[in-house]
Amino acid sequence: MKFFVDTADIDAIRELNDMGFVDGVTTNPSLIKKSGRDILEVIKEICDLVDGPVSGEVVATDYEGMIAEGNKLAEISDQIAIKVPLTIDGLKACKTFSEEGKMVNVTLCFSANQALLAAKAGATFISPFIGRLDDLNLDGMDLIEDIRTIYDNYGFDTQILAASIRSANHMSDAAKIGADVATAPPAVIKAMANHVLTDKGLAQFVQDAKDADIKIV
Ligand code: G3P
Repeated sequence: MKFFVDTADIDAIRELNDMGFVDGVTTNPSLIKKSGRDILEVIKEICDLVDGPVSGEVVATDYEGMIAEGNKLAEISDQIAIKVPLTIDGLKACKTFSEEGKMVNVTLCFSANQALLAAKAGATFISPFIGRLDDLNLDGMDLIEDIRTIYDNYGFDTQILAASIRSANHMSDAAKIGADVATAPPAVIKAMANHVLTDKGLAQFVQDAKDADIKIV
């Protein structure tokens, strides 16, 4: 499973990228707002920093507006995946961009039917939002499973990009189901390293090393 980092925070991306944990980056208008930066500048900087796909989201909601904004974003780099919402206009824009050979990430997916339409429209990535379904007492992971089944039934090559990931367990659950990609905030990716028994075991080893005066260098 590829790891995308869901942030526009350059320092956080750099730290994870240096550790080899970044196969791509996803942004959205809320993350750009949080960064306080100009969207075109920050996305260019992210493209210069990482090797993989970088999702930049359109803010227009009509087809023509999405096409104009998507083309502007795509001028930044070949790494750009134009992120469009899962609406009829977004699906039309997806079809246009995919026919032009541009990568498209169709976002705000909350149902298997929506994912089926995105694949038919030629999406490179479909972004089902796990956490926001869980927030409604639904099961976001069931949606990932349903989309995996449907895409495998018919050999769609749209990649399932599990999004709205809120916990380390979401990462391993998405991997078990066979999501192609998971995008998560930096803190969630780092939290994957945590285990209470690791902390306990390390504390004991540190104490024993001190007691026995073990020195290596
Ligand atoms: O980028 C889309 C997605 O990952 C948003 O996550 O936590 O705002 O639901 P969240």
